[in-house]
This record gives sequence, C-alpha cells and structure tokens, in this order.
Amino acid sequence: MCKKSLAAHGSQSPLFLRRVRMSELKSLYEVADAFARDANVSKAESEVRYRRSVLDPEAFWREVAQDFEWLRAPTRIKNTSFDLNDFRIRWFEDGEMNVSVNCLDRHLADNGDKTAIIFESDDPNAPARTLTYKELHAEVCKLGNALRNLGVQKGDRVSIYLPMIPEAAIAMLACARIGAVHSVIFGGFSANSIADRVADCGSKLIITANEGARAGKYTPLKKNVDDALNLPGTTSVQTVLVVRHGPSTVDMQMPRDRWYDAVMDGQPETCAPEPMNAEDPLFILYTSGSTGKPKGVLHTTAGYLIYAAYTFKTVFDQKPDDIFWCTADVGWITGHSYVVYGPMANAATVLMFEGVPSWPNASRFWEVVDKHKVTIFYTAPTAIRALMREGDAPVKRTSRKSLRLLGSVGEPINPEAWRWYYDVVGDARCPIVDTWWQTETGGILISPIAGATAMKPGSASLPLPGVQPALVDAAGTLLTGEAEGNLVILDAWPGIMRTVYGDHQRFIETYFKTYPGMYFTSDGCRRDADGYYWITGRVDDVINVSGHRLGTAELESAIVLHPSVSEAAVVGYPHDLKGQGVYAYVTLKEGVEADDALAKEIVALVRKEIGPIALLDQLQWAPALPKTRSGKIMRRILRKIAENATDQLGDTSTLADPAVVDQLVADRKNH
Ligand code: WTA
Repeated sequence: MCKKSLAAHGSQSPLFLRRVRMSELKSLYEVADAFARDANVSKAESEVRYRRSVLDPEAFWREVAQDFEWLRAPTRIKNTSFDLNDFRIRWFEDGEMNVSVNCLDRHLADNGDKTAIIFESDDPNAPARTLTYKELHAEVCKLGNALRNLGVQKGDRVSIYLPMIPEAAIAMLACARIGAVHSVIFGGFSANSIADRVADCGSKLIITANEGARAGKYTPLKKNVDDALNLPGTTSVQTVLVVRHGPSTVDMQMPRDRWYDAVMDGQPETCAPEPMNAEDPLFILYTSGSTGKPKGVLHTTAGYLIYAAYTFKTVFDQKPDDIFWCTADVGWITGHSYVVYGPMANAATVLMFEGVPSWPNASRFWEVVDKHKVTIFYTAPTAIRALMREGDAPVKRTSRKSLRLLGSVGEPINPEAWRWYYDVVGDARCPIVDTWWQTETGGILISPIAGATAMKPGSASLPLPGVQPALVDAAGTLLTGEAEGNLVILDAWPGIMRTVYGDHQRFIETYFKTYPGMYFTSDGCRRDADGYYWITGRVDDVINVSGHRLGTAELESAIVLHPSVSEAAVVGYPHDLKGQGVYAYVTLKEGVEADDALAKEIVALVRKEIGPIALLDQLQWAPALPKTRSGKIMRRILRKIAENATDQLGDTSTLADPAVVDQLVADRKNH
C-alpha cells in the first residue's frame, strides 16, 4: 500500500518527491508551542491524570462525574471485574440521570442560543440549516412526546434508519429522553440487514425518511424498510415514522406508517425526562464479529455518556468556539460518540454532512470546512487516501485556515497518508489525533491528547486516562517493553459495552475467554521503546473495509444463498484505498459452469443480502477449498494467496488435500 501511494506521486514534480523523502525521516512530531500554550491539557497534566486514573480509578472517575447533571448522584463509582468467576461491569451504579438532559437542558441557560447543529446537505447549492441548543431541545421534546403518544415506553427498542440529517440526532436524543433504547441502522444496509436487526432486538417503532442522498444519488430508505417489514421476524414493529427529506413520494401503509411532521405537529416543546439508572440501556448498535450474525453491542447510560464526553473534550482539546466536524455517519459508533453524545454533552457545535468527500468534486470537504469555519476535523484514513490520490490542488485551492486540529479513526493510517494529511490538509499547523477504539469500547482508548502528546505518524500513541492496554502472546503471557502481540485491556473503563443484546454468554465468550481476565480487542499491535502503540489490524475474521467492519461469516452465508454455489470462503487483503478489500473464493455445485455473468449475480446477491457496503472486490473460482483433515477451512493460506504472497504459504502438510492449494495458486496467477 505504501509503495503504491508513493508511486502515485511519482508522476508529480521531483520537488514533491524530495519533500516526501525528507519528511519521511521525521518520525516524531513534538507538540507545537503555539498549540500547547492554549491546550486544555498539558503534557505534565496528562501524565498526572494517567497515573491518578490507574492508581485510584474511583477517585478519578468520581471527579469526572461531578461535571454531569444527576437526578441522584452516584455514591458507588466502579464495580467491575473481568474475572470469569466474578464477572461484573457496573459504573456509577446507584446514580440516576437522563442523557438528553445532560446533552441539552443543562446548556439552555448559558448556551441556549449557541448553534448545536449545522447541517450541510449533499447538494452544495442547498442552504445550510442550523439548530440552536434551544431549538434542538424543543425538537427532541416534541419527538419524545410523540413517541410516548405512539406507545413507546421506557426500555422499548426503537430502530433508526435515517440519512445524516439533524433528525437522526433528534431521534437518538428523543429516545434517550423517554428511556427508549435506540438501535441505529446505517443507511448503507439493505432490507435483509434491517430485518435481522429489527428482529434481534424486537423494535416497536422505526424512524426513517422517504429517501437519503449521497453524491446526487438517492437511496429509497422507506422502501427498504417496507421490504424489511415483509420479511419474517419483524412483526414487533407497530409504527414507521417517515421524515420528509427530498422529493420522492412513498407508499404509506396506514395506520402503520405516519409522517414525522404530522406526529410532531402541535406537540409541546417540553417533555419530562425519564429518570434512568446509570446502568439502564441507552442504545444497541450492531457490529460484525468473527462468527455468525452481527451482534447487538449494548451500551448503558452514565458510563457511556461520561466516557464519550470526557474523551471528546480531552482528545480534541475542545473549546467553546470550536466548530467540530466528524464525517462519520451516525450509523456507526463514531457517529454516536463523536457526532452526537460526546460533543453535545459538552455543548459543542457540530457539523452534520449528508454527502461524500469527492462529490461534486474532490474539494468538497475543504469547501465545507471553509464555508462553516470548521476548527476540528475528524475523518477516516480511507477518505484521506482517496483524496490524496487526487493530488494537492483540490486541497490547495481552499483556505482551511479555520482548522486547528485533525483527527483520524477507523483503521490504521499509513504514514504516507498521515504526512499528507498533516502537511497538505493541515498546512503543517494542525496536530493529528489518531484515535484507536471500537464499537465495543464506546469511546477512544488510545490516542494522542492534542496539545499534550508528541505524535508519530501511524501510531495511535498512548492510552487515555483510565485505560490499561497490554500485549499478550498467543498463550496469553503478558509481554513487557518493546513487543508485538495481541492487544488486550486489563481493567474496565466507563464506556465499555455491557453485553451482547440477548446473549450475555456470547459477550463473555467473545471478549473475555480468549485471555481469561482480560478484554480481548481482536487487534494485533506493536509497542515501541517509547511505549507508543502501533495497531496492526484485526487478528480475527473481521475485515475492515474503508473503516467499516464486515464479518467473513456474514459474507460467506450471503454467497452460499446462491443456488449454484456449494461453498465459499472470504478473506481480507490489502487494498490501496480501502485499507482492506474483500476477496471471495467460491466453489460451485457439480456441473455448474463458472462465468462472468454468474460472478456478477453473486456480487449482486451479497449486495442485496447485506447492503451496498458489502462489495466483493475480488472473486476467484475455487474447484475446492483448502481444509484440514477435520474439515476446517485454512484461512491463513487463503489470505496469503489473496495477498499474492504465495511464497509464504507455510506448512500445508496438515491439509486434507494439499493439491487444492497448488490449483488455487495457479488460478490466482491468471486472475
Ligand atoms: C480498527 C471504530 C488502527 C481496529 C471506532 C478496531 C483502528 C476496529 C483505529 C473497530 C485506529 C479503529 N488505528 N485501527 N486509529 N480505529 N481501528 O468497531 O481494527 O467500527 O478493532 O469502531 O477498527 O471498528 P469499529
């Protein structure tokens, strides 16, 4: 990947090449004095905080919790144990609060007229829409009342399938207000994926829109919901609320379907917040794992909110005048924690953008930055790499002088992309926070603290307060000093997920059994001599495509639904833009001819089953798959073949039929 991106620049002037080579020598970027002077957290303070947080987590988090509004202040702060015989994760357990009160009501006195949300449409010519905290509060209250009128009660699940529009944040906060548990489904998922998620959590109501827009193309969101509700297992849904967004007309099935604006009409602008115990569920978010269907990651009230809010303020050095733009969709955890909950708990101004980086042209991100004077910009390496490929000109024709801080999330950022982001986008003026975390962790765990931590391109750097990472070898032995191994976390932090919805055993099995007594991240990682962490990527069967998690098991199940397919195995392989691409090996039933038309059908089937984000980048016909004598597919070998690293296949003697590998290697060469 690195070689390729350098090669892409090779066509540019020798001057540019020289600059890349010289800057490559620089591997440590100290915090600039100008930034450190006004930073919320100094280097010394970050070290003191870290020590305190580890030595006395109770005292540390008790103090952080004081900045929140409680209906009943917690007296018990941390009650956690990863020990399998005494497993428990409870934070602030006797406290009571309401998340929407913390994100809205408590800002009204001082920040009521401050902009909460700036909405930038997909269409660059559409006027921006803004909501102040007062207006957002009113909308959330109206929707909270409307939901209650529709019979939604505390603990009920509500699915949200919306584009990146303010109503997505309003819907999440309205659920929080009345104690309903939201489950946001990314707009790039298909009807089948919606149905799976709705069926798993038994949601009572779905909030959607007639359509969503991306790069001038329209997604029929309501139609996808209709199709989903025709599938088995979805009868729990009583009501579908439809936000009017864009011109398309949709079928409304009365009395099930209701227009959002109609149910909002006339609702009072105040709504009594539901008192929630600290450990009451706040939301479920489905994410892919190694096996089976996506799991419903469950986050609870106080621990999640406090962790999202604390990490937002700390990592991004947030100040009252900042305009914060996180480009993640609210369908992912990044959108939950750093578009909605973290920023809003801090009364920040957030920008929500419905569009894509490269439409109508490759300057769009930077034009939006200039238009709204964005100060902090947080995006994914895949977007940075895609824009880097377009060269410097689309960036340089914009000002970007409002920017003061940049962030990266979702996958490892290669040093070339880091340097381009730093030098070209940030004009060598803005620090970069490379934030490592997961859906399961609720908020950022390892990241530089802007203004406090020196940066190394490609390293997520150091753990945040309260986070105790460690590396273990395959046997679970803790590795000290400079080392490479599997990344685990030794003790609980407030934002950790509490369970897999409806399957607590799966939660324990997935995260705490591999290395008993530790949370296993499923990421590989290296620690250097300075104690900096370098995430190397997933070590399980999750493929990280453009920062989106796809499980190989889900993809394989979708492929084998095709009547001509007998078997399939999917692996990830390095991809220049997406980080990882999806490589599928497909075995057809006896007598079926392999051809391009069939390959297209299979690709289309997976898209239909999971959604447009599930694209098979490569499909190789496999006469058979390499298996052990006990019938287990040897993915290690398939990965090497996909990577074209056929000289590193390792020991194939344990295979039932080693000749299978020779055939796949030969076919790969012609592929
Ligand atoms: C990967 C997204 C390297 C990692 C917040 C993790 C990263 C998975 C980084 C979680 C980073 C996320 N550097 N890798 N800064 N951030 N990852 O659940 O493999 O969508 O396990 O959460 O993304 O993806 P998820």
